[in-house]
Amino acid sequence: MAEQQKNTWKFGKRDIVFLAIIVAVVIALLLGTTERKTIAVPSDDVHRTATSKAACMACHDSAGVYPQPSTHTKMERCFLCHTQPKGWVGAPK
Ligand code: HEC
Ligand code: HEC
Repeated sequence: MAEQQKNTWKFGKRDIVFLAIIVAVVIALLLGTTERKTIAVPSDDVHRTATSKAACMACHDSAGVYPQPSTHTKMERCFLCHTQPKGWVGAPK
């Protein structure tokens, strides 16, 4: 008669450590996705009512009153990176 193997799984100390690491990683990822790292668009009337790239670039191209850095991306959608001003009047994303 073979001796019955004892292989019932018990929740041990190492499992707690493992779980804690997973929880920490998940929390870190969640926090990382909500935090914007780019400069926000100011919440003023000028920025609430500018609704096209052309409008933005009238002030922010190299000849404008507040040029972008020369290394800045040429991408179209400013709000992909810069947080929208509160109450922006343009189309929802
Ligand atoms: C009429 C001119 C004008 C228009 C149009 C305009 N801006 Fe601005 N913008 C400025 C000026 C001037 C500043 C800097 C002063 C300030 O903070 O208001 C500024 C600041 C910013 C800043 C923050 C810079 C910093 O150092 O904090 C961002 C980002 C920005 N604008 C993006 C945009 C985007 C995106 C649009 C289009 C939706 C836009 N701007 C349209 C004049 C303009
Ligand atoms: C791919 C992400 C991205 C997009 C899209 C983007 N920006 Fe930026 N922008 C940045 C980053 C990052 C900075 C910080 C300065 C740098 O490193 O170039 C910046 C800086 C700026 C600044 C200067 C702020 C300062 O204080 O010097 C202005 C103005 C600006 N962006 C306007 C715009 C406008 C207008 C658009 C749309 C046409 C736009 N950005 C689209 C990432 C982006």
